[in-house]
Amino acid sequence: MSTDKLFEVTDLAFSYVLGKQKVEAIRGLDLSIDAHTFATISGPSGSGKSTLLNILGLIEPVQQGNVLFLGEEISRLTEREKNKIRRNRIGFIFQQFHLIPVLTAQENVEYFLSRQGCSRVEARSRAQEALEAVGLSDCRAHKPSQLSGGEKQRVAIARAIAKNPDVIIADEPTASLDSKTGKEILEILANLTKSKKSSVLLTTHDPMVQDYADSNVHLVDGRIS
Ligand SMILES: Nc1ncnc2c1ncn2[C@@H]1O[C@H](COP(=O)(O)OP(=O)(O)O)[C@@H](O)[C@H]1O
Ligand SMILES: [Mg+2]
Repeated sequence: MSTDKLFEVTDLAFSYVLGKQKVEAIRGLDLSIDAHTFATISGPSGSGKSTLLNILGLIEPVQQGNVLFLGEEISRLTEREKNKIRRNRIGFIFQQFHLIPVLTAQENVEYFLSRQGCSRVEARSRAQEALEAVGLSDCRAHKPSQLSGGEKQRVAIARAIAKNPDVIIADEPTASLDSKTGKEILEILANLTKSKKSSVLLTTHDPMVQDYADSNVHLVDGRIS
């Protein structure tokens, strides 16, 4: 099905169960995000941002309500289909970068492409292209320990864009960075949506990020406020 809606969420609810306790992290949420836009989810710590992102990224299940990803109802997908979408169509970026320490920048990007079934030659050229797109060609042979925080996050962005995903999902990608470096990262991500390369969805509790966003949803206690 073809649609210009990246996500359409209706009446979404999600709880964690801890022993006898139930934590209601998302409580009856409706939300619509257009494709090829830069969308943000803001809100204080504990408001449900990461939980929502994990549901939209097919990491947590849809417990209640409905989520369409590019027109497809995700609760109808099998685990195998969800894995395939996570592997091929969603690029993840995290606050702590999640790079493999023993691999160089180039190898970190290539490794994920080879897991997608890319040939070595293709993985190499796509990794080079992605590192160039984030301005890191000169650091290709550096290991994460030789890179600054901003450079590590740019490797993580390169890794995400190299797979040509429909959406890049980023959970507080600037939270570990100083504000100038954080701004550079946001500019790189914003440019991806401007050039229609990908959609970007990110969480933050930094108000600055909203200057870059096409749309923002503010959460408080698992609800839109
Ligand atoms: N794995 C978990 N087990 C139990 N409760 C959790 C878990 N993850 C998050 N929570 C709770 O769910 C609520 C929302 O958390 P989260 O989505 O991480 O919010 P945010 O990302 O906005 O800080 C909070 O009350 C948090 O304590
Ligand atoms: Mg969080």
